[in-house]
Amino acid sequence: MTTVLISGVGALGGWALEFLARTPGVERIVTVKRSPWQGPSRTTIAMLGSAIAGHTKRFEHHRVDLADEGAMARLLAEVRPDAIVHSATVQSPRILNSAALDPARRAEVRAATFGMWLPWQLWPAAQLMRAVEAAGIDTHVVNASFPDVVNVAIRRRFGHGPSAGAGNLEVCAARVLRYVMATTGRPAAEINVSLVGSHALLTRGTVVPHHFRLTVDGTDATEQVDLTAALSRWPEVINWHGDVPNSLYAGSAVKNALGLVGAEPLETHVSAPMGLPGGYPAVIGSGRIELRLPPDLAEAEAVAINDRAARFDGVERIEGDGTVVYTTESCAAMENLGYRCEAVEFDDLARRCDELRDVYRRLISEERDA
Ligand SMILES: NC(=O)c1ccc[n+]([C@@H]2O[C@H](COP(=O)([O-])OP(=O)(O)OC[C@H]3O[C@@H](n4cnc5c(N)ncnc54)[C@H](OP(=O)(O)O)[C@@H]3O)[C@@H](O)[C@H]2O)c1
Repeated sequence: MTTVLISGVGALGGWALEFLARTPGVERIVTVKRSPWQGPSRTTIAMLGSAIAGHTKRFEHHRVDLADEGAMARLLAEVRPDAIVHSATVQSPRILNSAALDPARRAEVRAATFGMWLPWQLWPAAQLMRAVEAAGIDTHVVNASFPDVVNVAIRRRFGHGPSAGAGNLEVCAARVLRYVMATTGRPAAEINVSLVGSHALLTRGTVVPHHFRLTVDGTDATEQVDLTAALSRWPEVINWHGDVPNSLYAGSAVKNALGLVGAEPLETHVSAPMGLPGGYPAVIGSGRIELRLPPDLAEAEAVAINDRAARFDGVERIEGDGTVVYTTESCAAMENLGYRCEAVEFDDLARRCDELRDVYRRLISEERDA
């Protein structure tokens, strides 16, 4: 009997819930969020959806604040999930990204990139890992909250962390596969896409360091693909705003969670496996993830590509103790927004979360008063 716990039932977690509700073999689905709103209703809707699809799974919703490590640990010790899909975040980047800011302010927010929300993503994921440790359970955490950096920082800080991330490079790989299928007319079974890259490859395109190899029917066809087109305008320009794209990230989180729990090896791409930065081609199965890099690419080289790519998300480096150091460009943009932060340290995370909330409120009220 497979039990999956979903931590955070917002835009992304809500899609994960719907997918799991319709997945055979998942018998028990447990949702967790902080506030009393939406969790019970979303979980009930998923239960009904699962019944329409012919399933009779167990569904439970629990109201738990990840700040309460003891309560979360007690719940985990009782539920003993085989896998956890984590998407809880203090505030989704979506909120600031869709706020009505004047164009100059908006440009600074873009330049600051993850500086404007990393603590909001890192703190809940760190709290979850502390609770998993306190519960003494063996489970697989798949973290969708900026895994390319969060998973790395957590692993360096605690010596353990989420097994995998979700989304980001996995979406790029899906796009390339469909592009190659359409342009060559060959079936997926004859196509092998191999991409190493980070979150920034999805948002900024091929200017970001990456590694790409393609074989079609065993023959190298890398040069025949316009990767820039495949990752941007093909077959239509995508509207990344709103709720719908979350189906992609949630779908990959569910794929990774079930891949880890399952015994059948799954050839795929995975973001931030085993605390590595960025994403890689990999095989998931039987609780393990093994990188599946092309013969001419050593693991250290692939990691170095993704370390360089992190700078396009405003992250200069991640220290051995998990401290995340921002790039000078990101720091300068934050200073222009009246927010000084050069690095995020674990011991300071809660304060950094509060500080960011104050910055967010000030930016919004300044716009209102303007
Ligand atoms: N990997 C990818 O490709 C990808 C793509 C897009 C987004 N993301 C990331 O996914 C994350 C989720 O985004 P979203 O749009 O789904 O956010 P969202 O709609 O705001 O959902 C966040 C959820 O977290 C819960 N939460 C917040 N604080 C909590 C706490 N202390 N304890 C328990 N639950 C808590 C919220 O519950 P309450 O409302 O009750 O507080 C809410 O259910 C973000 O970090 C975002 O950057 C990843």
